[in-house]
Amino acid sequence: GKVRAPTHIISTISDDRGDEPCYAGVPMSTIIQRGYGVGDVISLLWFKRSLPRYCTQFIEICVMLCADHGPCVSGAHNTIVTARAGKDLVSSLVSGLLTIGPRFGGAIDDAARYFKDACDRGLTPYEFVEGMKKKGIRVPGIGHRIKSRDNRDKRVQLLQQYAHTHFPSVKYMEYAVQVEAYTLSKANNLVLNVDGAIGSLFLDLLAGSGMFSKQEIDEIVEIGYLNGLFVLARSIGLIGHTFDQKRLKQPLYRHPWEDVLYTK
Ligand code: ACO
Ligand code: LMR
Repeated sequence: GKVRAPTHIISTISDDRGDEPCYAGVPMSTIIQRGYGVGDVISLLWFKRSLPRYCTQFIEICVMLCADHGPCVSGAHNTIVTARAGKDLVSSLVSGLLTIGPRFGGAIDDAARYFKDACDRGLTPYEFVEGMKKKGIRVPGIGHRIKSRDNRDKRVQLLQQYAHTHFPSVKYMEYAVQVEAYTLSKANNLVLNVDGAIGSLFLDLLAGSGMFSKQEIDEIVEIGYLNGLFVLARSIGLIGHTFDQKRLKQPLYRHPWEDVLYTK
């Protein structure tokens, strides 16, 4: 028989060799004919399956709600400074993207990991939060610089409302809300933030859709797919900030001396 030469690359998500490109086996023409949206494309390329409409719509809502949060946040600030230094679109974009991490926008995977572990082990919010404190780890998905008990994050509320209406179960989100109730008893700004809302709700989406085995859910959480949602979403805003600065012909940025504490 034929001897197959070993390949240098294995790829399972897309194929460009035929008449038309396919995403997870679905041809482009089908994607267009069926009126698929970007949530469906994400579901094919990231999860290698067509998810039900309420799931792909949830993905799209995450992308829309996280697309931007004004010019003052870490990512937009970096992008604005870079664009004003005369750099190109890609440089300005990645300069902003590089701030996404454990404190800013990149806490979704850890929020999913810790909420899942604590909820599955049946820890009370008190046991979970105090256990994290003993380990010296801030609870991912909790806390915000400007949002608080009396100034809730509208994005979190919109995600919760959508899930309450469309998801068969919101077990993990409810656990995260119980954790928030406990952290709010410690300080006003320790709200469930958008990373924590997406992390916990995506656990509910994965478990409730019936489309993933337990092992697949563990793999998704372990590999860490979910920060990708914020990276993808915020790229939209960061690209917008780049165009905005160029359009406004903004000069090189220099931080004012008055705003620096020079000290020995
Ligand atoms: N868990 C437990 N305690 C916390 C947490 C938390 N998540 N956040 C703040 N605290 C407590 C700590 O005691 C902290 O003291 P420490 O510095 O000794 O640890 C104290 O509050 C002071 O924190 P603040 O100054 O009020 O918080 P800050 O405004 O500096 O931080 C931040 C906000 C970075 C979001 C923080 O709450 C945090 O690290 N959260 C976890 C990561 C996270 O979820 N990030 C995503 C935010 S949403 C987004 O970026 C889209
Ligand atoms: C964001 O979406 O960028 C934030 O929630 C962070 C912030 O400080 O507003």
